[in-house]
Amino acid sequence: MIRGNLIELRLFREADLPLLSRWTREDHDSPEWFQRRIESETETRDRFSTDSGFWSTDRGRLMIEPLRRRRGASPGSAGFITFWRPAPSISDAYEIGIYLSISHRRGGYGTEAQSLLARFLFENRPTGRVQATTAVENTSERAALEKAGFRVEGVLRDWFWAGGRRRDAALYSMTRQEWEAIRPASPSRPDSSRSHESSRSASPPPKRGR
Ligand SMILES: CC(C)(COP(=O)(O)OP(=O)(O)OC[C@H]1O[C@@H](n2cnc3c(N)ncnc32)[C@H](O)[C@@H]1OP(=O)(O)O)[C@@H](O)C(=O)NCCC(=O)NCCS
Repeated sequence: MIRGNLIELRLFREADLPLLSRWTREDHDSPEWFQRRIESETETRDRFSTDSGFWSTDRGRLMIEPLRRRRGASPGSAGFITFWRPAPSISDAYEIGIYLSISHRRGGYGTEAQSLLARFLFENRPTGRVQATTAVENTSERAALEKAGFRVEGVLRDWFWAGGRRRDAALYSMTRQEWEAIRPASPSRPDSSRSHESSRSASPPPKRGR
């Protein structure tokens, strides 16, 4: 549905749901600031049916599918990426979030997936801004967002609860104007064989000085 160089983002199928639920139980050794949310298979199925298969104009969840198998990575899907509107009554902004299964990390998927989804949202929604929040300590996500072209805006103090205490989060964003400045030269072409909401993309935007 949305194709990059390393991965493809595609809609969820019912057969993916056990894997999705399993991923929420995966990070046993994660750092204490990592926010875990264990989801039962029943809850995952309920959400899938009430959220129209994880897809609507305002919110969606896409499977991250590697285009080639990496050495040491488990076979099959790599993780998922989501988008939603954080303040729909006052802003047309979107927020994104991502999860990669452990064996699929550090291969560039996080950077490319977030770059592809930002591009999809700017091309297919009239939004002025795409944002992301992550624990201030989450160096890998912060680096992936920056490589994808997002800029840090500041710190959201006491933003979430993890490891027995309140935690600060870093807020990142990319405005439409910033995206226009780094968008790939070739216009994306809708893949009409599958959906008019489609986008093809090359690699993430070049790194900018900041
Ligand atoms: C955060 C996450 C999405 C990053 O995706 P990724 O595919 O692992 O990251 P990338 O391979 O695109 O790496 C981007 C950059 O981050 C840095 N980086 C990645 N993993 C790192 C690590 N473990 N330690 C230090 N730096 C790291 C590197 O600078 C890397 O660039 P480089 O490979 O050119 O040096 C992924 O690790 C993940 O899903 N983690 C668990 C869930 C999570 O934290 N989600 C986001 C928070 S809401």
